[in-house]
Amino acid sequence: MKNNSIPAAPPCTLFLFGANGDLVKRLLMPALYNLSRDGLLDRNLRIIGVDHNAASAQAFADRLHAFMRQREQGGEGADRQLDDKVWARLAKRLDYLTGDFLDPATYAAIAARVSKTSHGNAIFYLATAPRFFPEVARRLGEAGLLDESQGGFRRLVVEKPFGTDLASAEALNACLLKVMSERQIYRIDHYLGKETVQNILVSRFSNGLFESFWNNHYIDHVQITAAETVGVETRGGFYDGTGALRDMVPNHLFQLLAMVAMEPPAAFAADAVRSEKAKVIGAIRPWSTKMALKNSVRGQYVAGKQGRKRLAGYRQEPNVAADSQTETYVALKVMIDNWRWVGVPFYLRTGKRMSVRDTEIAICFKPAPYAQFRESEAERPKPNYLKIQIQPNEGMWFDLQAKRPGPELVMENVELGFAYKDFFQMTPATGYETLIYDCLTGDQTLFQRADNIENGWRAVQPFLDAWACGGEVHEYPAGKDGPQAGDELLARDKREWHSLG
Ligand code: BG6
Repeated sequence: MKNNSIPAAPPCTLFLFGANGDLVKRLLMPALYNLSRDGLLDRNLRIIGVDHNAASAQAFADRLHAFMRQREQGGEGADRQLDDKVWARLAKRLDYLTGDFLDPATYAAIAARVSKTSHGNAIFYLATAPRFFPEVARRLGEAGLLDESQGGFRRLVVEKPFGTDLASAEALNACLLKVMSERQIYRIDHYLGKETVQNILVSRFSNGLFESFWNNHYIDHVQITAAETVGVETRGGFYDGTGALRDMVPNHLFQLLAMVAMEPPAAFAADAVRSEKAKVIGAIRPWSTKMALKNSVRGQYVAGKQGRKRLAGYRQEPNVAADSQTETYVALKVMIDNWRWVGVPFYLRTGKRMSVRDTEIAICFKPAPYAQFRESEAERPKPNYLKIQIQPNEGMWFDLQAKRPGPELVMENVELGFAYKDFFQMTPATGYETLIYDCLTGDQTLFQRADNIENGWRAVQPFLDAWACGGEVHEYPAGKDGPQAGDELLARDKREWHSLG
């Protein structure tokens, strides 16, 4: 996001709760490094890791540095060479506080560390296990650390998972809102940090062309897919109690759905955008138990292959129960009951250990009337798709029909496309850069408001309830695109999944 016209964010003390966890080293520190490299951090920004393990500031910095080096040398997220000068500047900002999240003494120590040179501004970033979210928030409140009456801002960043169902999400919101106002809460969904996700709104609302066909008169259905090749890796303990639906749908997939389906906001301002998103997610039809079972497919990967590599089944992964019924794949059909979308199904699917990594939205248009081709050899024209690829090959493509040159009338699928890499220099980024910068500058547009979160859970709750009463978990071999039943969900409506990749 380097842009010389962007000012550095205001000074602040940024407290990272869960400083020794994966998120801090894998995503937050590289993002802070990139922001620092691009001159977007104020010279008085201090970063203080908070965690229960005793460590010195130096040891904390050394550990992060070692990881950044490993990353640079081809490890996870490798992108570019670590610049020693940039790292040295970032390292100077780092400090560490040993403290138990449940101990009031930790909060007294935090109060003493809120830097005077940052005008009393502080951000508390909860990169902890979710059970600590309400505990830390309450203690920050009790210690007066969320009080903005002295002039400095006080903000809380909450990672996902935000609750495990509607009731727990409502309870967590209530707990946070007891000690601070909505304006101070930054609920993160890292999908909103992705350039390609932000671009959906820009494409839709800054190109008049799109609006003319963006409705149920022209669109037959929409498919939203997040396919991953990775399995659960070291996260079996977390994932086995969570599953694909909770992990991906009410948050990431619904954010994509909202971007595609929302009405134009009155302004590109936080509340205008978030109100439209809440409205469209709130318009998802709540299925009865019977319909929720009919309109959902759960799958779990068993041993399989990716190329020549043998892959273990989900139940053989570390920290996964040997008889686990947790889904690693889910496909859903949802309907949005508003004027723009009535009658247009939205099919959502996500899965681990699928054949390719591909996060995409495929918008399928109604077919052209084909009377003209009845007497010819041409087959019925294929539907046109607009594919918005979020990752890895970022861009947008229209599938069109064209006449293959020659004496016969033969139609062929051709593509009209825009690939990001052909137009823009894409600086490697984690996606957290924009989110951290926005939090520092107080822009909540890319963060979830309480009603966004609750509407998301409200829409998936019927599936959770229906599955609690029964329904099958279908097996699929690792390396394949989900179970047969996932294809049948569309085949039943005489449709098929857009091919991945
Ligand atoms: C996380 C999920 O929120 O998103 C993971 O917990 C998933 O299970 C990840 O792998 C996907 O994110 P991305 O950016 O790789 O699509």
